[in-house]
Amino acid sequence: MSRDLTGKRAILTGASGGIGRATAEALVKAGARLALASRNAEALNALADTLRAAGGDVLVVPTDVTNPADRLRLVETAADRFGGLDVLVNNAGVGSWGHFSTSTPEILRRVMEVNFFGPVELTRVAMPHLTRGNEPAVVNVTSMCGRKGMPAWPEYSASKFALVGMAEAWRGEFARFDVDVVTVVPGMTDSGFRENWLRAEGKADLKFEDGMTPADVAAGIVAALKSNRREVVLGREAKRLLRFNRFFPRLTNWLIARKVRKLYGR
Ligand SMILES: NC(=O)c1ccc[n+]([C@@H]2O[C@H](COP(=O)([O-])OP(=O)(O)OC[C@H]3O[C@@H](n4cnc5c(N)ncnc54)[C@H](OP(=O)(O)O)[C@@H]3O)[C@@H](O)[C@H]2O)c1
Repeated sequence: MSRDLTGKRAILTGASGGIGRATAEALVKAGARLALASRNAEALNALADTLRAAGGDVLVVPTDVTNPADRLRLVETAADRFGGLDVLVNNAGVGSWGHFSTSTPEILRRVMEVNFFGPVELTRVAMPHLTRGNEPAVVNVTSMCGRKGMPAWPEYSASKFALVGMAEAWRGEFARFDVDVVTVVPGMTDSGFRENWLRAEGKADLKFEDGMTPADVAAGIVAALKSNRREVVLGREAKRLLRFNRFFPRLTNWLIARKVRKLYGR
């Protein structure tokens, strides 16, 4: 199936910056009508002005995805304004970099709230509209950490694994309603991600500046939605790591453990 995004009525979370902002631009360029959601109303309004100047039909709904009332308001406002809903892109997310042994229960809960419960409960609220939509789809922006748990990303890996798992179950269930489920698995991207981490205490030399641009990821998201892919891995190093892990899981784990010992000692 090939999905034409012209006139599609969509919600995008995490639209204020990074991958979300670039995805908003790409979706509008592809012809979608878009509700922009995140907590930063000022950034969303500035983006909306730019998109409208380019001919986009966009709407700003300041939203904290961890807040049930905000989630409901987002879906109802978008569905009212557009007369329905066809696409939900769950992109909002937060990272936390550091080992589990020095982390806190609060960090674990926060990461799960933003990266797992937020998108999942937003999807629950959106489903009654999506089931009546035109070629409807839910897109979840997960991470390569959702396909391979990475040291110093324990909470983040768990949250993204959970989202990948939920999406896999949904795919079968939502087939009853003809609602497609697209899982996007990006690798390192040079966005504002690291400025928003809950903590930055890891030791590896992460080179986000050598990763993809947000526009690269946005192009991948839109292409996956258009071609209705079940799952796409984006980025060279994510593809390489996940492929290597698939064929040589023991060696991958050994190499990772060796690196951790070298960086952290015993
Ligand atoms: N950058 C990477 O290397 C990378 C790699 C793989 C996957 N990802 C995933 O890609 C997605 C986008 O990340 P990014 O790289 O663009 O990072 P980013 O620049 O930090 O953007 C994160 C977005 O999420 C929003 N957000 C955070 N908490 C929120 C909340 N409680 N409610 C609503 N919105 C919230 C932020 O907006 P406000 O602050 O305005 O709320 C912002 O728009 C995330 O799911 C991330 O896990 C990123």
